[in-house]
Amino acid sequence: MLVLGIESSCDETAAAVIQDGRIILSNVIASQIQIHSRYGGVVPEIASRKHIEAISAVTLQALENAAIQPSWIDGIGVTMGPGLVGSLLVGLSFAKGLALSLNVPYVGVNHLEGHVAASSLMDTSPEFPFVSLVVSGGHSNIYLYRGFGDYDLLGQTKDDAAGEAFDKAARLLNIGYPGGVVIEQLGRSGNKDRWTFPRAMRERLDFSFSGLKTSLLIEIKKRGKPFADDEIPDVASSFQEAIVDVLVDKTMRAAQEHDVAGVVVCGGVASNGRLRERFNESAALIGLKVFIPPAVLCTDNAAMIGAAAYNLLEKGFKAPWDLNAVSRWPRQDRT
Ligand code: KG4
Ligand code: ZN
Repeated sequence: MLVLGIESSCDETAAAVIQDGRIILSNVIASQIQIHSRYGGVVPEIASRKHIEAISAVTLQALENAAIQPSWIDGIGVTMGPGLVGSLLVGLSFAKGLALSLNVPYVGVNHLEGHVAASSLMDTSPEFPFVSLVVSGGHSNIYLYRGFGDYDLLGQTKDDAAGEAFDKAARLLNIGYPGGVVIEQLGRSGNKDRWTFPRAMRERLDFSFSGLKTSLLIEIKKRGKPFADDEIPDVASSFQEAIVDVLVDKTMRAAQEHDVAGVVVCGGVASNGRLRERFNESAALIGLKVFIPPAVLCTDNAAMIGAAAYNLLEKGFKAPWDLNAVSRWPRQDRT
């Protein structure tokens, strides 16, 4: 089965062709990061316009790279939320038009389920049940997955998401965008123990990252001047460690509480090298298997949407033509 995946929920316009839910025939991503970086974050109006400009070319490129004809596609999967509604509507409308003209079914995909489905594109994919941590710019969620479309939300952030904390810290430090990428790069040469930022251990499996950002702000104000260039790597590394510590701790706790053999870590923040290292170390200690897709499948992409769509299309799902985009997913734990 050949599925065309389309993703336009934030600042990446992406299309991919996936065979049988597991094999990536193509994975094309047009990033708008350069455009938004001058504003220090995604500007929704600009994002929608850029998606409109890019979506046809990106989709044609995905078909060309996969060396297939449009008529060979068996179904289309498109992100319908959560995300920026204006951006989502570009992908959704495009997918509807294409599905109608090719006379194939299409399905709306939950972006967060897409992130988790990226794990089925790995050489070795996890067996159910597993615990999954989805860490992105808008979410820090821990799930128990019994199957695709069959999962419970075990914990989530009560305020900022992990990626948002990285982005806000980078803005406070004036070091660029996206924050996670810059903080990781600068932090590589830094001392993670120079500053101790708070590890907010909220009750149970929930997260809270806003205090972390505030403590950085307090530190900057206390000094009365910005951090010097030679201090930034230490701040970046210490800040990153505080986020990573909490993410690893709670995910491992969830895995043990629910007695699963594997953990999937996904979403943009999962491309962080230190996070990957710490998860691998910690999992090895307690005999858990950890599955973290390659970085290109962690940050937003359409291969993961194609993989998630396959699970729906294969069961015979078919979205109606009046399907709408949603900025927040109304049902937190079901497709
Ligand atoms: O999944 P994603 O690409 O888009 C959303 O669904 O939000 O995640 C974007 C988030 C941003 O907050 C970005 O700062 C963060 O992922 N991110 C990282 C890294 N690369 C991207 N965070 C930490 N380390 C990275 N290497
Ligand atoms: Zn995402």
